Amino acid sequence: MDSDISPTSILQDLTTTFIGRHILYHHTVPSTMEMAKEAAGRGAHEGTIVLAEEQTAGRGRLGRSWLSPQGGISLSIILRPNIKQLPQLIMVASLATSRSIEKTCGLKADIKWPNDILIRGRKVCGILVESAIRGQTVDWAIIGIGLNVNLNPADFPDIAAIATSLSTELGRNVSRPDIITSLLSEIELLYLASHQGEPIHKEWRSRLETLGKKVRIDYRGLIEEGQAEDVDDDGSLLLRRSDNSLAVITAGEVTILK
Ligand code: BTN
Repeated sequence: MDSDISPTSILQDLTTTFIGRHILYHHTVPSTMEMAKEAAGRGAHEGTIVLAEEQTAGRGRLGRSWLSPQGGISLSIILRPNIKQLPQLIMVASLATSRSIEKTCGLKADIKWPNDILIRGRKVCGILVESAIRGQTVDWAIIGIGLNVNLNPADFPDIAAIATSLSTELGRNVSRPDIITSLLSEIELLYLASHQGEPIHKEWRSRLETLGKKVRIDYRGLIEEGQAEDVDDDGSLLLRRSDNSLAVITAGEVTILK
């Protein structure tokens, strides 16, 4: 049995003050990112979420697609951060997701730089942050979260070898409202902390599985290789090349090299 993620089931246990207080719920949509963008453009309240059972054209980072079958969580959150907070949103989202998986399921959830969530080396969640900026003003930012909850990745050949789900890891289904309400609370806490200028970087860094490893980074065909040495305060990866020079990497797909 899977759980109901209608607005009523979310709102009855939600403890946040603004994140998730307005819910745009759909059974099937092309992408919650597109719906959230439209709602943000129409002036939706900060914290409004778009939630769907299933996406038919889910989007991933770097132009990839994101498979979003029923049983998962497809969620986009509309925020109106200041410009200084913007680089922190990746940390807010990935740290919140890692924390809420641990709290609700008791599973260790690592962060693969910059914002994939892995359980035992397999991807359980992908995060996408998009924004619209005019000068120094952020019109809106949207955090998109796709979480494999009650589904079996083995049923989907495209992701079978690299993905996992919470139900696969636990051997039982998980309450999606519990995960969603926990996730929204953690996001609100960390988002407010980032607004106050409080450091969230340290805990995010401590959950990164990538540091200390030899990696290849592919950013739209541009390849860098080296040792993932550290991250800076904005979340950029500091990569030590074999000639000892340091590259500051802001985006890309990481492959761990043996
Ligand atoms: C990635 O790992 O490449 C990021 C995947 C992000 C997927 C989520 S699901 C909810 C939201 N809607 C989308 O179309 N994408 C994001």
